[in-house]
Amino acid sequence: MEQFLNLEQIDFYNENGYLVVEKFLDDNSIAILKERTKEIITAFDPKELKVFTTENQESHMDDYFLGSGDKVRCFFEEGAIDKNGVLAVSKEKSINKVGHAMHDLIPDFEKIAYTPALYSIAKSLGLKQASIVQSQYIFKQPKIGAKVNPHTDSTFIYTDPLSCLGVWIALEDAEIENGCLSVIAGSHQISLKDRFVRNKANTGTEFVNMGGDSEDWNLQKLEALPVRKGDMVLLHGQVVHASFANRSKKSRHAFVLHLIDLDCEWPTDNWLQRSETLPFRVMENVVYHRFG
Ligand code: FE2
Repeated sequence: MEQFLNLEQIDFYNENGYLVVEKFLDDNSIAILKERTKEIITAFDPKELKVFTTENQESHMDDYFLGSGDKVRCFFEEGAIDKNGVLAVSKEKSINKVGHAMHDLIPDFEKIAYTPALYSIAKSLGLKQASIVQSQYIFKQPKIGAKVNPHTDSTFIYTDPLSCLGVWIALEDAEIENGCLSVIAGSHQISLKDRFVRNKANTGTEFVNMGGDSEDWNLQKLEALPVRKGDMVLLHGQVVHASFANRSKKSRHAFVLHLIDLDCEWPTDNWLQRSETLPFRVMENVVYHRFG
């Protein structure tokens, strides 16, 4: 197998906990992702949300979220759905993201996610039995797209031992003005602060401390990572990163995948779970037998 990343890139990632790879995704693939996602939103019936928003809104939205690990579900900006489960603004204007299993449920997403290039990257960065556990299409809507506070992805995509690799692909140019990523280089060396888990009753989520402390994050060192359409940012699961709010008139779409090593344990209280009918797949098998 031809190695996609060169040694210099691998060294940079290991030292800094992130790596920008320019021009990873071609324009045609980007157009396909955009088109398919548009179709998902057009087909989405807000009545589906009504089930989750009547009576106890918060707990029902938790069900909607907790059940999304093996489905394609639409998530809207806060305040976009009123008490009756009706969208206050149009779907297109208030959609926040679509997640979390498009890569295993929609053939066009599958083709773009399961490539020899990404598999090679996962291998080079130490995943022995790589698996894509989550996909998200993130809209950072013009004017209203909120900032994302500093966090680590291993908090949300946890394995024992840690193995999360974030793959963030810009589907549009991302600058400070429309909400690009920022990262603290080298912060992947700091111990993990917490895990985001299902509560004991399995009705919601909570954070569990893992010993690390966000006091150790030197937020002054967050540096902006502006990238062009098609560029990819690889993020170590423990690297501290954030993203700016979108105060501009331009949207900022991104396609994000999270990979783990299946040799590591996936705890049953991780928020993201799969049903038996759609287990996590060994990436190598999908990549090389997709057309078989
Ligand atoms: Fe993240």
